[in-house]
Amino acid sequence: MSKANLSVFASGIGSNLLAIHNASKDKYFPGKLQLVICNKICPAYELAKSLNYETKLISDLNIEKFEVIVHQELTKKKIDLICLAGFMRVLSPKFVSKWKNKILNIHPSILPLFPGLNTHKKILLNGIKIHGSTVHLVNEKLDSGKILGQFAFAVKSNDIDFLIDNIKKYENLLYPEVIKKYIWTFLFKEDKFLKYKRIQIDDVVFSY
Ligand code: GRF
Repeated sequence: MSKANLSVFASGIGSNLLAIHNASKDKYFPGKLQLVICNKICPAYELAKSLNYETKLISDLNIEKFEVIVHQELTKKKIDLICLAGFMRVLSPKFVSKWKNKILNIHPSILPLFPGLNTHKKILLNGIKIHGSTVHLVNEKLDSGKILGQFAFAVKSNDIDFLIDNIKKYENLLYPEVIKKYIWTFLFKEDKFLKYKRIQIDDVVFSY
């Protein structure tokens, strides 16, 4: 079975990286993780190394230089799809247009609500009763590309750590599923997978 070459970009804990790694162990998962890029030393960087992935730490402060190096590494590894997973650096419009339709991101809000940082805080501060996450294509505008998948749940606690853990638990289920679907439909053009899915796990609704 042919597989898309994936690169994960991460700057944080790495729970989504781990979820993609776990999903890719399934022989029917249509992607192979070939390269992890981190812009700083972080748990995700250590995790990638411990899982024996080729892992690049590229911490150049100048975005142009950073992106030239990243582009070279991606090209060397013949990467088909970039998955941003807690990557805390905004990519330039030039880079995004070079990799048009080949960059996915997971963002912890129900977009288009709450693009940008501190989404959990904003949810709690505003007393919002529904929260969730979105997997979307990356375009030139922050957190604004085409929405590919989302989940939503009722906010039942004001505990921000609980909220973050809960979000991640379900992100780790959503992201690999959306990656799978995106590879089949948009990279491999297999329309039998195009069907819209709506599932419920616990009392969380997923749609992708
Ligand atoms: C996730 O909540 C994701 O939505 C956001 O950053 C967080 C990364 O978590 N973009 P992890 O490093 O994958 O655990």
